[in-house]
Amino acid sequence: MPGKLTDGWNLGGVEVGNRVVLAPLAGIGNWFVRLQAKRHGAGLVVSEMVSSFAVHYGNERTCRELLRIHPDEHPVSMQLFGHDPDVMASAAEAVAAAGADLIDINMGCPVPKVCKTGAGAALIENPDRAVALARAAARGSGLPVTVKLRPGRRPGERGGVALAHRLVEEAGVAGVCIHPRHASQRHRGSPDYDLARGLVEALPVPVLISGGLHTAEKAHIAYERTGAAAVLLARGSLGNPWLFEHVLGTRGDEPERDEILAELGWVIDCAIDHMGADRAGRYLRKFYPWYVERLGGGKPLQAALQTAPTLEDVRALLAPALAVG
Ligand SMILES: Cc1cc2nc3c(=O)[nH]c(=O)nc-3n(C[C@H](O)[C@H](O)[C@H](O)COP(=O)(O)O)c2cc1C
Repeated sequence: MPGKLTDGWNLGGVEVGNRVVLAPLAGIGNWFVRLQAKRHGAGLVVSEMVSSFAVHYGNERTCRELLRIHPDEHPVSMQLFGHDPDVMASAAEAVAAAGADLIDINMGCPVPKVCKTGAGAALIENPDRAVALARAAARGSGLPVTVKLRPGRRPGERGGVALAHRLVEEAGVAGVCIHPRHASQRHRGSPDYDLARGLVEALPVPVLISGGLHTAEKAHIAYERTGAAAVLLARGSLGNPWLFEHVLGTRGDEPERDEILAELGWVIDCAIDHMGADRAGRYLRKFYPWYVERLGGGKPLQAALQTAPTLEDVRALLAPALAVG
């Protein structure tokens, strides 16, 4: 019987300080977004999905940027995707060498570009391969392996549930994260928490829950209703690292304007460190709307940030926002 979300727990031999986890977020969950979640209390952080092929073939940018782990973000789980067990074993070895504490394998991504290669949610329909991939990741890395999956690819299908059992029994995975929306729903609709509860009751390993946990209240309700070992915060945490504190109950109020701007300033600094000012300028455009919305900034500020030529221009646009606070 899980206790409070603030209780520590063990995932495959890794001690985790609490039960509130940053979900994998493609194109977003790099080292500094994970570090930010950690600074705000996350017990465990999961990387954005990383191509096992890119790692295996030594893609320079993937290895330099996506395998980068900050010393203060542990424990960290690196999520890999792919369809070839030998490539997965090789990539898992590199991820372990980069300092990961755990490996998560993506078996839930519904994006056609990923599924058509036989990776992501396509693995739900290829359970033998899915089991081979999980075994290969453990063999290659020597680390505990978890899997994130969906109940099925289409409404009513339960292939993901059957696969979760096989992954535990035949591949010895240390934990399973269920996002209880079928893959064709992508991220829309209500997650089926009763289905998740069934999995929690049936599996002998920790089951983590993802989906719809956008507020502290929703996270608490899902945690209690499913009996899951931990909750994953995804879209609710975008530009809102304070959600970790709200879910953990370490903070009640909303951040003030100067705090939001300071956080955005920290993100800008980290992005420059991550990829240099030029690329950071473009990369950060997806981050601004989350923060500007919290600041109550209107469309003109949003538009100006999207077209600002340099990060100096971005800082100049944000300075008056601080002044009017
Ligand atoms: C922009 C975005 C990127 C995502 N990237 C990944 C990913 O790389 N790997 C993964 O397993 N899930 C990924 N997901 C799914 C989330 O981890 C999470 O399961 C999903 O968003 C449901 O949670 P939510 O309703 O709280 O957002 C992504 C979701 C979004 C919105």
